[in-house]
Amino acid sequence: MSTATAIAHPNIALVKYWGKSDATLNLPETGSLSLTLDVFPTTTTVTLDDALTADTLELDGLPAAGTPLDRVRRFLDLVRAQAGVATHARVVSRNTVPTGAGLASSASGFAALAAAASAAYGLPTDTVSLSRLARRGSGSASRSVLPALAVWHEGDDATSYAEPVTGPEIAMVVATVDAGPKAVSSREAMRRSAATSPYYPAWVTSTRETLEVALEACADDDFTALGRLAETNALRMHAAIQGCEPPVRYLAPASVALFDRVAALRAEGVDVWGTADAGPNVVAVCRPADAGRVADALADLAPVTVALPGPGVRLVEGAE
Ligand code: PMV
Repeated sequence: MSTATAIAHPNIALVKYWGKSDATLNLPETGSLSLTLDVFPTTTTVTLDDALTADTLELDGLPAAGTPLDRVRRFLDLVRAQAGVATHARVVSRNTVPTGAGLASSASGFAALAAAASAAYGLPTDTVSLSRLARRGSGSASRSVLPALAVWHEGDDATSYAEPVTGPEIAMVVATVDAGPKAVSSREAMRRSAATSPYYPAWVTSTRETLEVALEACADDDFTALGRLAETNALRMHAAIQGCEPPVRYLAPASVALFDRVAALRAEGVDVWGTADAGPNVVAVCRPADAGRVADALADLAPVTVALPGPGVRLVEGAE
């Protein structure tokens, strides 16, 4: 019986992915740039089993049904089609990311699943192949295949994958405002943004420009420029989202308070910038040497976790 286990970590985008040019192939409208973290890993085991008539999924010790199971089955259908193998699989996944709270559990989840399924079904496990495959499960998962800073290119099915980027030393302080699942999935809110937000075209144009400048900031080892671009880009994403009909708003009062606290720290001379994904949690982007001070300054507003650059996806020995 063929089995494989992989571990992947979430990533937080400094230049966000928000919107698709192809929903089936999960191609992004623009490129994006992120940092893979060293916290909240997902460990996933895929075991082929001839006795199964459908794939099964165990998530954090419980049998999963509904959307998570459907997404895993669709993903494994793709893997089977590529591998030319019909056998179904048992998938056992353990997440330490609060699932669905905008902390990219889908990124670590589909990066780990792509690696474990590729190994178990005999597909290539090089970084480019895994990044392209992980992209099909969840766009941001293409970046969690890579360690630390990674750029995910817009392009076609063959060319849209993530690659490593060299840049400044970065820490991230994750402030968890709400660990519950979000009301509107990023998939639906992205679709709604593109279909209804009058700000969406401006989001796409400005993000393409921002990515170019952000990559220059990385090449120049310029933390301050990168941090400022990241905060601007995150707020622009939320502005585009807030143009949706029917409305979607991810930032909560506590999120805004965290952005204010980050700005107050900046006024005190700390080089720190805020970002937020499709949820209320705020991530403070700072230099590693400032992470303790930033964490202390945010801790009365929300529980905080200090993260540093983390590893890319890796296959590990071991059973479920
Ligand atoms: O990969 P998805 O479909 O969960 O979308 C992620 C979108 C954001 O987290 C909001 C931005 C990003 O680039 O990660």
